[in-house]
Amino acid sequence: MPFTIAIDGPAAAGKGTISKAVAAHFGYAHLDTGLLYRAVGAKVLAGADAIEAAQALQAEDLENGDLRTAEVAQAASKVAVIPEVRSALVDFQVAFARRDGGAVLDGRDIGTVICPEAEAKLFVTASAEVRATRRFKELSEKGSDQSYDDVLADVIARDKRDSERATAPLKPAEDAVIVDTSDLSIEAAIAAAVAAIEAAG
Ligand code: C5P
Repeated sequence: MPFTIAIDGPAAAGKGTISKAVAAHFGYAHLDTGLLYRAVGAKVLAGADAIEAAQALQAEDLENGDLRTAEVAQAASKVAVIPEVRSALVDFQVAFARRDGGAVLDGRDIGTVICPEAEAKLFVTASAEVRATRRFKELSEKGSDQSYDDVLADVIARDKRDSERATAPLKPAEDAVIVDTSDLSIEAAIAAAVAAIEAAG
């Protein structure tokens, strides 16, 4: 029987790490839906039309190794405001969510738009400063020379665009459990997420 776990939240709140750990814990498949928007954003940076790129998107496009850059993240959040881009990506996500054996999807609108019927919904968040600190550390370890202030400005700009857009804005579903990871270790955040899902199921 399908069991869907929806995990939403802003950039760098720990969603990705928590989603992977939750999927491994329950033995479910995991889809990072940000990759869909990043893949479209990367195609736009390479000169493609956003709507055409979204309509033609293939599963292989999600395996492009260069989707994790700050430039692609900003491009992703720009294409993500276009309603036709969002609607072109719905079927893939819904099919993934309803596969047999259970699925974890993480993104911005999974609990609100893509899977309003998900059996468990989490909204993973943290303060902008904590998120920027984490992202800064991650980028520095990869050899990026972006300053902390630039990373914080990027996080805030992306939050603003994601929360204020008209179509599928970033916000918790009414029935989502909020997990604030600002003061939690990774292990504690994963444990809180697993406990919330067990309580929901
Ligand atoms: O999660 P990630 O940082 O990879 O997402 C990149 C961008 O894609 C986000 O800033 C957001 O604009 C967009 N996105 C979205 N809806 C989703 C997942 C991501 O709008 N479900």
